[in-house]
Amino acid sequence: MPAPGACLTFQANKQLARHDWLHLTPAYAADLVSDILSETDRSAVIFDPFLGSGTTIIRAAEMGFRSTGWDINPFLLEVVRSKSLQLDAETCSEIYEQGLALVDSATLLTEYCAEPDMHNIDRWWSTEHRRQLCQLKSLILKLPHSQPASQLMRMAFAHALKTSAQVHHRHHSLSFSDEKNTSQVSSEFLQALHSYLQDTLHTFTHAPLIERHDARLPDNNLDADILLCSPPYPNRMSYMREMRPYLYWLDYVDAAHQVADLDWLAIGGSWGTATNRLKTWRPDQFDHAVPALIKCLAQLPKRSSTALIQQYLIRYAQDMHAHFSAMHHSLRSGTEVHYIIGNARYYNVNFDSDALFRELLQQCGFVDINSRILRRRSSHKQLFEYCVSARVA
Ligand SMILES: C[S@@+](CC[C@H](N)C(=O)[O-])C[C@H]1O[C@@H](n2cnc3c(N)ncnc32)[C@H](O)[C@@H]1O
Repeated sequence: MPAPGACLTFQANKQLARHDWLHLTPAYAADLVSDILSETDRSAVIFDPFLGSGTTIIRAAEMGFRSTGWDINPFLLEVVRSKSLQLDAETCSEIYEQGLALVDSATLLTEYCAEPDMHNIDRWWSTEHRRQLCQLKSLILKLPHSQPASQLMRMAFAHALKTSAQVHHRHHSLSFSDEKNTSQVSSEFLQALHSYLQDTLHTFTHAPLIERHDARLPDNNLDADILLCSPPYPNRMSYMREMRPYLYWLDYVDAAHQVADLDWLAIGGSWGTATNRLKTWRPDQFDHAVPALIKCLAQLPKRSSTALIQQYLIRYAQDMHAHFSAMHHSLRSGTEVHYIIGNARYYNVNFDSDALFRELLQQCGFVDINSRILRRRSSHKQLFEYCVSARVA
Protein backbone atom coordinates (compact mmCIF):
# COMPACT_ATOMS: atom_id res chain seq x y z
CA MET A 1 0.00 0.00 0.00
CA PRO A 2 1.28 3.52 -0.74
CA ALA A 3 2.23 5.60 2.32
CA PRO A 4 -0.56 7.94 3.53
CA GLY A 5 -0.21 11.32 1.80
CA ALA A 6 2.14 9.97 -0.92
CA CYS A 7 1.66 11.68 -4.29
CA LEU A 8 0.14 9.07 -6.62
CA THR A 9 -0.11 11.13 -9.82
CA PHE A 10 2.29 11.93 -12.67
CA GLN A 11 3.53 14.90 -10.58
CA ALA A 12 5.56 12.43 -8.50
CA ASN A 13 7.47 11.32 -11.64
CA LYS A 14 9.07 14.71 -12.30
CA GLN A 15 12.85 14.38 -11.76
CA LEU A 16 12.76 10.57 -12.19
CA ALA A 17 15.00 9.26 -14.98
CA ARG A 18 12.87 8.17 -18.00
CA HIS A 19 9.57 8.72 -16.12
CA ASP A 20 9.84 12.51 -16.48
CA TRP A 21 10.16 12.53 -20.28
CA LEU A 22 6.53 13.22 -21.07
CA HIS A 23 4.05 14.49 -18.55
CA LEU A 24 0.89 12.65 -19.47
CA THR A 25 -1.84 13.96 -17.17
CA PRO A 26 -3.52 10.60 -16.47
CA ALA A 27 -0.21 8.83 -15.72
CA TYR A 28 0.24 7.46 -12.23
CA ALA A 29 3.26 7.61 -9.94
CA ALA A 30 6.03 5.07 -10.61
CA ASP A 31 6.15 4.47 -6.84
CA LEU A 32 2.59 3.15 -6.94
CA VAL A 33 3.84 0.42 -9.25
CA SER A 34 6.74 -0.39 -6.86
CA ASP A 35 4.32 -0.54 -3.93
CA ILE A 36 1.93 -2.93 -5.65
CA LEU A 37 4.77 -5.16 -6.90
CA SER A 38 6.94 -4.99 -3.77
CA GLU A 39 6.12 -8.55 -2.61
CA THR A 40 6.09 -10.09 -6.08
CA ASP A 41 8.68 -12.69 -7.02
CA ARG A 42 11.10 -11.16 -9.56
CA SER A 43 10.54 -14.07 -11.97
CA ALA A 44 7.01 -12.76 -12.69
CA VAL A 45 6.13 -11.08 -16.01
CA ILE A 46 4.32 -7.76 -15.51
CA PHE A 47 1.78 -6.74 -18.13
CA ASP A 48 0.08 -3.38 -18.86
CA PRO A 49 -2.56 -3.43 -21.64
CA PHE A 50 -3.00 0.41 -21.43
CA LEU A 51 0.59 1.65 -21.49
CA GLY A 52 0.09 5.42 -21.79
CA SER A 53 3.53 6.83 -21.01
CA GLY A 54 4.73 3.39 -19.89
CA THR A 55 5.02 3.97 -16.13
CA THR A 56 4.18 0.34 -15.26
CA ILE A 57 6.58 -1.45 -17.55
CA ILE A 58 9.45 0.99 -17.14
CA ARG A 59 9.27 0.78 -13.34
CA ALA A 60 8.80 -3.01 -13.51
CA ALA A 61 11.93 -3.25 -15.71
CA GLU A 62 13.82 -1.02 -13.25
CA MET A 63 12.83 -3.47 -10.50
CA GLY A 64 14.24 -6.41 -12.48
CA PHE A 65 10.97 -7.87 -13.83
CA ARG A 66 10.27 -8.93 -17.38
CA SER A 67 7.49 -6.68 -18.62
CA THR A 68 5.24 -6.25 -21.60
CA GLY A 69 2.62 -3.71 -22.67
CA TRP A 70 0.09 -2.60 -25.26
CA ASP A 71 -1.46 0.66 -26.40
CA ILE A 72 -3.20 1.94 -29.52
CA ASN A 73 -1.89 5.50 -29.52
CA PRO A 74 1.00 5.49 -32.05
CA PHE A 75 2.80 8.43 -30.47
CA LEU A 76 2.66 6.94 -26.98
CA LEU A 77 4.01 3.65 -28.31
CA GLU A 78 6.92 5.59 -29.79
CA VAL A 79 7.49 7.35 -26.45
CA VAL A 80 7.59 4.08 -24.50
CA ARG A 81 9.86 2.41 -27.07
CA SER A 82 12.27 5.34 -26.80
CA LYS A 83 12.15 5.31 -23.00
CA SER A 84 13.11 1.63 -23.11
CA LEU A 85 16.36 2.28 -25.00
CA GLN A 86 19.58 1.30 -23.24
CA LEU A 87 22.77 2.85 -24.59
CA ASP A 88 26.46 2.88 -23.70
CA ALA A 89 28.41 6.06 -22.95
CA GLU A 90 30.18 6.09 -26.33
CA THR A 91 26.93 5.86 -28.32
CA CYS A 92 25.43 8.59 -26.13
CA SER A 93 28.24 11.02 -26.83
CA GLU A 94 28.12 10.25 -30.58
CA ILE A 95 24.37 10.97 -30.63
CA TYR A 96 24.83 14.19 -28.68
CA GLU A 97 27.54 15.35 -31.13
CA GLN A 98 25.14 14.52 -33.97
CA GLY A 99 22.46 16.60 -32.20
CA LEU A 100 24.79 19.59 -31.90
CA ALA A 101 25.70 19.40 -35.60
CA LEU A 102 22.04 19.03 -36.55
CA VAL A 103 21.08 22.17 -34.61
CA ASP A 104 23.90 24.14 -36.28
CA SER A 105 22.77 23.06 -39.75
CA ALA A 106 19.08 23.62 -38.95
CA THR A 107 19.57 27.29 -38.09
CA LEU A 108 21.19 27.87 -41.51
CA LEU A 109 18.45 26.14 -43.51
CA THR A 110 16.58 28.46 -45.84
CA GLU A 111 14.31 25.76 -47.30
CA TYR A 112 12.47 23.62 -44.82
CA CYS A 113 9.27 21.61 -44.42
CA ALA A 114 5.89 23.30 -44.16
CA GLU A 115 4.26 23.64 -40.76
CA PRO A 116 1.43 21.19 -40.04
CA ASP A 117 -2.13 22.12 -40.91
CA MET A 118 -3.18 22.27 -37.27
CA HIS A 119 -6.14 24.36 -36.10
CA ASN A 120 -4.98 27.61 -34.40
CA ILE A 121 -1.31 26.82 -34.99
CA ASP A 122 -0.46 30.54 -34.77
CA ARG A 123 -1.91 30.61 -31.24
CA TRP A 124 0.13 27.57 -30.24
CA TRP A 125 3.53 28.85 -31.43
CA SER A 126 4.89 32.26 -32.45
CA THR A 127 6.02 32.74 -36.07
CA GLU A 128 9.65 32.58 -34.93
CA HIS A 129 9.14 29.35 -32.96
CA ARG A 130 7.29 27.76 -35.88
CA ARG A 131 10.20 28.58 -38.20
CA GLN A 132 12.73 27.10 -35.76
CA LEU A 133 10.58 23.98 -35.32
CA CYS A 134 10.21 23.50 -39.09
CA GLN A 135 13.98 23.84 -39.61
CA LEU A 136 14.74 21.27 -36.93
CA LYS A 137 12.02 18.87 -38.04
CA SER A 138 13.28 18.93 -41.67
CA LEU A 139 16.63 17.49 -40.54
CA ILE A 140 15.31 15.10 -37.88
CA LEU A 141 13.01 13.45 -40.42
CA LYS A 142 16.02 12.71 -42.62
CA LEU A 143 17.67 10.54 -39.94
CA PRO A 144 17.39 6.76 -40.49
CA HIS A 145 14.11 5.63 -38.90
CA SER A 146 13.91 3.51 -35.73
CA GLN A 147 17.57 4.10 -34.88
CA PRO A 148 18.34 5.37 -31.35
CA ALA A 149 19.56 8.74 -32.73
CA SER A 150 16.32 9.35 -34.59
CA GLN A 151 14.16 8.02 -31.73
CA LEU A 152 15.79 10.24 -29.10
CA MET A 153 15.90 13.32 -31.31
CA ARG A 154 12.19 12.93 -32.04
CA MET A 155 11.55 12.77 -28.27
CA ALA A 156 13.73 15.85 -27.66
CA PHE A 157 11.85 17.59 -30.49
CA ALA A 158 8.55 16.68 -28.77
CA HIS A 159 9.88 18.26 -25.59
CA ALA A 160 10.84 21.44 -27.49
CA LEU A 161 7.34 21.51 -29.04
CA LYS A 162 5.80 21.61 -25.62
CA THR A 163 8.18 24.08 -23.99
CA SER A 164 8.05 26.55 -26.89
CA ALA A 165 4.22 26.57 -27.04
CA GLN A 166 2.17 29.57 -25.91
CA VAL A 167 0.33 27.50 -23.29
CA HIS A 168 0.06 27.35 -19.54
CA HIS A 169 2.49 24.53 -18.81
CA ARG A 170 1.20 23.98 -15.32
CA HIS A 171 -2.40 23.66 -16.45
CA HIS A 172 -3.53 20.07 -16.93
CA SER A 173 -5.36 20.56 -20.20
CA LEU A 174 -3.03 22.84 -22.17
CA SER A 175 -4.87 26.18 -22.34
CA PHE A 176 -3.40 29.10 -24.30
CA SER A 177 -1.37 31.75 -22.52
CA ASP A 178 -0.98 35.41 -23.50
CA GLU A 179 2.46 35.56 -21.94
CA LYS A 180 5.26 35.66 -24.52
CA ASN A 181 7.25 32.42 -24.54
CA THR A 182 10.93 33.35 -24.82
CA SER A 183 12.40 29.85 -24.97
CA GLN A 184 14.80 28.87 -27.78
CA VAL A 185 13.77 25.72 -29.66
CA SER A 186 17.38 24.61 -30.20
CA SER A 187 18.43 24.93 -26.56
CA GLU A 188 15.27 23.18 -25.32
CA PHE A 189 15.97 20.41 -27.83
CA LEU A 190 19.63 19.99 -26.84
CA GLN A 191 18.90 20.11 -23.13
CA ALA A 192 16.25 17.38 -23.47
CA LEU A 193 18.47 15.29 -25.75
CA HIS A 194 21.30 15.44 -23.20
CA SER A 195 19.05 14.49 -20.32
CA TYR A 196 17.33 11.61 -22.21
CA LEU A 197 20.72 10.24 -23.29
CA GLN A 198 21.89 10.24 -19.67
CA ASP A 199 18.75 8.32 -18.70
CA THR A 200 19.41 5.59 -21.27
CA LEU A 201 22.68 4.77 -19.48
CA HIS A 202 20.64 3.20 -16.64
CA THR A 203 20.19 -0.34 -17.87
CA PHE A 204 17.53 -2.99 -17.20
CA THR A 205 18.00 -6.72 -16.68
CA HIS A 206 15.17 -7.31 -19.18
CA ALA A 207 14.12 -4.80 -21.83
CA PRO A 208 10.31 -4.31 -21.89
CA LEU A 209 8.31 -5.67 -24.85
CA ILE A 210 5.98 -3.13 -26.45
CA GLU A 211 3.24 -3.88 -28.95
CA ARG A 212 0.48 -2.03 -30.73
CA HIS A 213 -2.54 -4.06 -29.67
CA ASP A 214 -6.17 -3.22 -28.89
CA ALA A 215 -6.87 -4.21 -25.28
CA ARG A 216 -10.40 -5.32 -26.26
CA LEU A 217 -8.96 -8.17 -28.33
CA PRO A 218 -7.59 -11.44 -26.93
CA ASP A 219 -4.04 -12.68 -27.49
CA ASN A 220 -3.52 -16.42 -27.25
CA ASN A 221 0.24 -16.02 -26.86
CA LEU A 222 0.16 -13.57 -23.98
CA ASP A 223 2.82 -14.36 -21.37
CA ALA A 224 1.95 -12.50 -18.13
CA ASP A 225 1.75 -13.23 -14.39
CA ILE A 226 0.45 -9.89 -13.12
CA LEU A 227 -1.64 -7.30 -14.93
CA LEU A 228 -1.30 -3.76 -13.58
CA CYS A 229 -2.72 -0.76 -15.41
CA SER A 230 -4.95 2.28 -15.46
CA PRO A 231 -7.42 2.18 -18.33
CA PRO A 232 -8.99 5.43 -19.58
CA TYR A 233 -11.35 6.87 -16.95
CA PRO A 234 -14.98 7.44 -18.03
CA ASN A 235 -14.49 11.21 -17.80
CA ARG A 236 -14.46 12.18 -21.48
CA MET A 237 -10.84 13.24 -21.32
CA SER A 238 -9.21 12.65 -24.71
CA TYR A 239 -5.60 11.48 -24.90
CA MET A 240 -5.56 12.16 -28.63
CA ARG A 241 -6.66 15.74 -27.98
CA GLU A 242 -3.89 16.17 -25.43
CA MET A 243 -1.33 14.60 -27.78
CA ARG A 244 -2.31 16.44 -30.96
CA PRO A 245 0.72 18.79 -31.17
CA TYR A 246 2.95 15.68 -31.23
CA LEU A 247 0.66 13.77 -33.59
CA TYR A 248 0.74 16.64 -36.12
CA TRP A 249 4.37 17.65 -35.91
CA LEU A 250 5.67 14.07 -35.95
CA ASP A 251 3.53 13.31 -39.01
CA TYR A 252 1.11 10.81 -37.50
CA VAL A 253 -1.85 12.89 -38.69
CA ASP A 254 -2.38 15.80 -41.06
CA ALA A 255 -6.04 16.67 -40.44
CA ALA A 256 -8.37 17.03 -37.45
CA HIS A 257 -10.64 14.18 -38.58
CA GLN A 258 -7.66 11.79 -38.29
CA VAL A 259 -7.21 12.77 -34.64
CA ALA A 260 -10.93 12.12 -34.10
CA ASP A 261 -10.63 8.76 -35.93
CA LEU A 262 -7.81 7.73 -33.57
CA ASP A 263 -9.83 8.93 -30.59
CA TRP A 264 -12.81 6.85 -31.67
CA LEU A 265 -10.59 3.75 -31.57
CA ALA A 266 -9.68 4.48 -27.94
CA ILE A 267 -11.83 3.36 -25.03
CA GLY A 268 -13.66 6.44 -23.76
CA GLY A 269 -12.66 8.53 -26.79
CA SER A 270 -15.25 11.06 -27.97
CA TRP A 271 -13.33 14.09 -29.19
CA GLY A 272 -14.28 16.19 -32.24
CA THR A 273 -16.26 14.29 -34.87
CA ALA A 274 -16.08 11.17 -32.65
CA THR A 275 -18.90 12.89 -30.68
CA ASN A 276 -21.14 12.82 -33.78
CA ARG A 277 -20.42 9.13 -34.23
CA LEU A 278 -21.42 8.54 -30.63
CA LYS A 279 -24.85 10.06 -31.29
CA THR A 280 -25.72 7.38 -33.83
CA TRP A 281 -23.71 4.54 -32.29
CA ARG A 282 -25.65 1.45 -31.12
CA PRO A 283 -24.33 -1.19 -28.70
CA ASP A 284 -23.60 -4.59 -30.24
CA GLN A 285 -24.44 -7.79 -28.40
CA PHE A 286 -23.68 -6.12 -25.09
CA ASP A 287 -26.12 -6.97 -22.37
CA HIS A 288 -25.79 -3.74 -20.43
CA ALA A 289 -27.49 -5.21 -17.36
CA VAL A 290 -24.69 -4.05 -15.10
CA PRO A 291 -26.13 -2.53 -11.89
CA ALA A 292 -23.58 0.33 -11.64
CA LEU A 293 -24.40 1.40 -15.20
CA ILE A 294 -28.16 0.99 -14.83
CA LYS A 295 -28.13 2.98 -11.58
CA CYS A 296 -26.27 5.90 -13.14
CA LEU A 297 -28.39 5.92 -16.32
CA ALA A 298 -31.58 5.92 -14.22
CA GLN A 299 -30.41 8.86 -12.12
CA LEU A 300 -29.30 11.09 -14.98
CA PRO A 301 -31.86 13.85 -15.66
CA LYS A 302 -34.15 13.06 -18.60
CA ARG A 303 -33.12 15.78 -21.04
CA SER A 304 -31.90 15.67 -24.59
CA SER A 305 -28.49 16.95 -23.42
CA THR A 306 -27.89 13.84 -21.31
CA ALA A 307 -28.52 11.44 -24.23
CA LEU A 308 -24.91 11.80 -25.36
CA ILE A 309 -23.55 11.04 -21.88
CA GLN A 310 -25.77 7.95 -21.71
CA GLN A 311 -24.41 6.73 -25.05
CA TYR A 312 -20.88 7.50 -23.85
CA LEU A 313 -21.27 5.50 -20.63
CA ILE A 314 -22.89 2.51 -22.36
CA ARG A 315 -20.07 2.43 -24.92
CA TYR A 316 -17.49 2.72 -22.16
CA ALA A 317 -19.06 -0.21 -20.26
CA GLN A 318 -19.29 -2.28 -23.43
CA ASP A 319 -15.62 -1.63 -24.22
CA MET A 320 -14.46 -2.50 -20.70
CA HIS A 321 -16.58 -5.65 -20.84
CA ALA A 322 -14.83 -6.60 -24.10
CA HIS A 323 -11.47 -5.93 -22.45
CA PHE A 324 -12.14 -8.00 -19.30
CA SER A 325 -13.51 -10.82 -21.41
CA ALA A 326 -10.41 -10.73 -23.68
CA MET A 327 -8.16 -10.77 -20.61
CA HIS A 328 -9.99 -13.68 -19.00
CA HIS A 329 -9.54 -15.57 -22.25
CA SER A 330 -5.84 -14.66 -22.66
CA LEU A 331 -4.40 -14.78 -19.13
CA ARG A 332 -3.43 -17.98 -17.32
CA SER A 333 -5.55 -19.26 -14.46
CA GLY A 334 -4.50 -17.59 -11.18
CA THR A 335 -3.11 -14.38 -12.80
CA GLU A 336 -3.60 -11.33 -10.56
CA VAL A 337 -5.08 -8.19 -12.14
CA HIS A 338 -4.99 -4.66 -10.67
CA TYR A 339 -6.91 -1.77 -12.27
CA ILE A 340 -6.33 1.80 -11.10
CA ILE A 341 -9.51 3.69 -11.97
CA GLY A 342 -11.26 6.94 -11.07
CA ASN A 343 -15.00 7.48 -10.83
CA ALA A 344 -16.75 10.30 -12.70
CA ARG A 345 -19.66 12.65 -12.14
CA TYR A 346 -22.21 13.94 -14.63
CA TYR A 347 -25.09 16.31 -13.73
CA ASN A 348 -24.39 15.67 -10.00
CA VAL A 349 -24.77 11.92 -10.53
CA ASN A 350 -21.87 9.61 -9.67
CA PHE A 351 -20.69 7.02 -12.18
CA ASP A 352 -19.08 4.45 -9.91
CA SER A 353 -16.34 3.00 -12.08
CA ASP A 354 -15.04 0.78 -9.28
CA ALA A 355 -18.48 -0.86 -8.88
CA LEU A 356 -18.76 -1.18 -12.67
CA PHE A 357 -15.35 -2.87 -12.82
CA ARG A 358 -16.17 -5.28 -9.98
CA GLU A 359 -19.45 -6.25 -11.66
CA LEU A 360 -17.92 -6.65 -15.12
CA LEU A 361 -14.98 -8.66 -13.75
CA GLN A 362 -17.43 -10.99 -12.07
CA GLN A 363 -19.54 -11.34 -15.24
CA CYS A 364 -16.36 -12.25 -17.14
CA GLY A 365 -15.40 -15.02 -14.68
CA PHE A 366 -12.78 -13.35 -12.43
CA VAL A 367 -12.69 -14.30 -8.72
CA ASP A 368 -11.40 -12.78 -5.43
CA ILE A 369 -12.61 -9.35 -6.56
CA ASN A 370 -12.03 -6.40 -4.23
CA SER A 371 -11.44 -2.68 -4.41
CA ARG A 372 -9.88 -0.07 -2.19
CA ILE A 373 -9.71 3.71 -2.34
CA LEU A 374 -6.23 4.97 -3.20
CA ARG A 375 -6.89 8.69 -2.95
CA ARG A 376 -9.42 11.46 -3.17
CA ARG A 377 -8.86 13.43 -6.36
CA SER A 378 -8.27 17.12 -5.82
CA SER A 379 -10.73 18.37 -8.44
CA HIS A 380 -13.94 17.36 -6.58
CA LYS A 381 -14.67 15.93 -3.16
CA GLN A 382 -16.74 13.06 -4.56
CA LEU A 383 -14.09 11.96 -7.03
CA PHE A 384 -11.84 9.10 -5.94
CA GLU A 385 -9.22 6.83 -7.40
CA TYR A 386 -9.51 3.10 -6.64
CA CYS A 387 -7.46 -0.01 -7.10
CA VAL A 388 -9.77 -2.84 -8.23
CA SER A 389 -8.07 -6.23 -7.97
CA ALA A 390 -9.08 -9.77 -8.92
CA ARG A 391 -7.75 -13.11 -10.15
CA VAL A 392 -8.41 -15.21 -13.23
CA ALA A 393 -10.38 -18.29 -12.06
C1 LIG B 1 -4.90 6.33 -18.30
S1 LIG B 1 -3.85 6.09 -19.69
C2 LIG B 1 -2.61 5.07 -19.01
C3 LIG B 1 -1.62 5.85 -18.20
C4 LIG B 1 -0.45 5.01 -17.71
N1 LIG B 1 -0.80 4.20 -16.56
C5 LIG B 1 0.73 5.90 -17.37
O1 LIG B 1 1.18 5.91 -16.23
O2 LIG B 1 1.18 6.65 -18.26
C6 LIG B 1 -4.80 5.00 -20.67
C7 LIG B 1 -4.16 4.56 -21.99
O3 LIG B 1 -5.03 3.60 -22.60
C8 LIG B 1 -4.86 3.69 -24.01
N2 LIG B 1 -6.00 3.02 -24.67
C9 LIG B 1 -7.26 3.48 -24.86
N3 LIG B 1 -7.99 2.58 -25.51
C10 LIG B 1 -7.18 1.50 -25.72
C11 LIG B 1 -7.38 0.24 -26.34
N4 LIG B 1 -8.55 -0.10 -26.88
N5 LIG B 1 -6.34 -0.63 -26.36
C12 LIG B 1 -5.13 -0.30 -25.82
N6 LIG B 1 -4.89 0.90 -25.25
C13 LIG B 1 -5.90 1.79 -25.19
C14 LIG B 1 -4.78 5.18 -24.24
O4 LIG B 1 -4.15 5.44 -25.51
C15 LIG B 1 -3.96 5.66 -23.04
O5 LIG B 1 -2.61 5.71 -23.38
